[in-house]
Amino acid sequence: MSINTLIDSLSTQGWYVWDDFLISSDIQEIKHCIPNTLQDARIGHRESLQGNRAIRGDQTVWLEPEMGVPIALYMDKMEEIRQALNYQLFLGLRDFETHFCRYPNGGFYKKHVDNPRGVGRRKITTVLYMNESWKLGDGGELVVFDKKDNHLFKLEPLAGRMIFFMSEEFPHEVLPTEQKRESIAGWFLTEKIL
Ligand code: OGA
Ligand code: MN
Repeated sequence: MSINTLIDSLSTQGWYVWDDFLISSDIQEIKHCIPNTLQDARIGHRESLQGNRAIRGDQTVWLEPEMGVPIALYMDKMEEIRQALNYQLFLGLRDFETHFCRYPNGGFYKKHVDNPRGVGRRKITTVLYMNESWKLGDGGELVVFDKKDNHLFKLEPLAGRMIFFMSEEFPHEVLPTEQKRESIAGWFLTEKIL
């Protein structure tokens, strides 16, 4: 598990699963910095909330380094990765946006592409899982498909694990969770088009 393996995997297969990206105590410390009040997650360009609960059931809060040192350290780590990706893959990644997500029991996120048709700025998606006691039967797995909608794999949302994938290429869904499910999603962004 290293940045070089990440870069190789992203350039050959377009995705990578990095187990133990963070250790348990880092995850706990990040959780302590998360504000108590989250917002219903939004989808789509105009960020309309209408009908969203039929598509996704999570609540989110955008993360800022000011929320605490553990969050600032996570963002520093992602900045290091952004620079390495640019240096080796010439992806022109300019920014990183990231939010904490909490799905209540019964929550899910229907199959979608994070950057359909590649018109948005999202180039690489990251999801860091934070579920310390996840076990088989708890649900909330991430299911990933290829461009042609063939099933690729199903991923357990285990604490410390991070997945990276190209935001334009991989449809994916979150299966209904039987437990509270917590994660931090992030996106490396390309240049703003004016
Ligand atoms: C998303 C998303 C997947 C996950 O936030 O866009 O698809 O496993 N998350 O939480
Ligand atoms: Mn997604």
